[in-house]
Amino acid sequence: MGLKFEIKHKDPQTKARAGKITTDHGEIQTPIFMPVGTAGTVKAVHQRELKEDINADIILGNTYHLYLRPGTEILEKAGGLHKFNGWDRPILTDSGGYQVFSLAQTRKIKEEGVTFRSHIDGSKHLFTPERVMDIQRSIGADIIMAFDECPPYPSDYTYAKNSMQLTHRWLQRCVDRLDETVPLYGHHQALFPIVQGSTYKDLRTQSAEKIASFEREGNAIGGLSVGEPAEMMYEFTELCCDILPEDKPRYLMGVGTPANILENIALGVDMLDCVMPTRQARHGHVFTTQGIMNLKNKKWEDDFEPIDATLGGYASTFYSRSYLRHMFKANEALAGMVASVHNLTFYLWLVREARQHIIDGDFREWKNAIIPTLMQRL
Ligand code: GUN
Repeated sequence: MGLKFEIKHKDPQTKARAGKITTDHGEIQTPIFMPVGTAGTVKAVHQRELKEDINADIILGNTYHLYLRPGTEILEKAGGLHKFNGWDRPILTDSGGYQVFSLAQTRKIKEEGVTFRSHIDGSKHLFTPERVMDIQRSIGADIIMAFDECPPYPSDYTYAKNSMQLTHRWLQRCVDRLDETVPLYGHHQALFPIVQGSTYKDLRTQSAEKIASFEREGNAIGGLSVGEPAEMMYEFTELCCDILPEDKPRYLMGVGTPANILENIALGVDMLDCVMPTRQARHGHVFTTQGIMNLKNKKWEDDFEPIDATLGGYASTFYSRSYLRHMFKANEALAGMVASVHNLTFYLWLVREARQHIIDGDFREWKNAIIPTLMQRL
């Protein structure tokens, strides 16, 4: 079965939508935040917690990391990533386009693809659009991403234009390869192409039009949240959303803070992912309905309140701020685990609230009222 997207409600005051994506591994209520499980594991979080406590609809994996470790041979032997890690709900894999540029050493971009050295052992590899499609067939995610180049911010116009055109040529090669191959595990895999074009309006327009013309089952916006000011990110999200088809899911890659999530949903984004909740958690930063806490601060030493009682969920209500701070100070392995489950519980709460307010028709008022509270540092 193909990927299906239904829009249930449109917010009258913003461009936000509440919808539902159906995949062979189940449904995704949108807008959705997708926890990042780079190497097939959402760092420090059990699958049971992801499913039962956090209730994530979908998680991410990464082609670059999974290709280097454990490798496609093991993934195929396991029967794909769903079988390997035990996650039976939808999975999306990023193409590695971004990681090759941010993590790999001594990479070289050519028409054919990118040669790079592994950040793990320095070994040399070549990623081509064809190879990246094959690897994503071996992983077996429900949604797979085209191989793209994410240019740095800022990029000069000529670089951004050439890079965007290369991404478009690579997209055609991704599509051709997918057409020549079949899914290995029986379930459908939907390819999402990625809009690039850096921070140039004419390039972003051209790229969004080009990506839309491929008429895939969903579309992504890449190359944002790479250091540009938030207002600039919103401007380009809006420009892209206004061009990308209304009746297909729009995925904004690598975003962001709670405020970024709500503002981009208001512009028509349906799916987002970011390492922020899990990475921040491991450093002792927790997001709550009252604001952001740095649990390493002395302020929390004798605060015996739950991390965030209003959220519900085991991690957020069972552990006190004082005890979690103590675990961070004592370098206990459980500290990062509890904080990660809590932060993901918060991020999933945030998008579910957003969805409900879109349905209720008061999304804009709610968003504008809640953002200052969510972003304040306690
Ligand atoms: N993750 C965040 N931004 C990007 C991007 O531009 N491309 C890809 N492939 N992944 C991303």
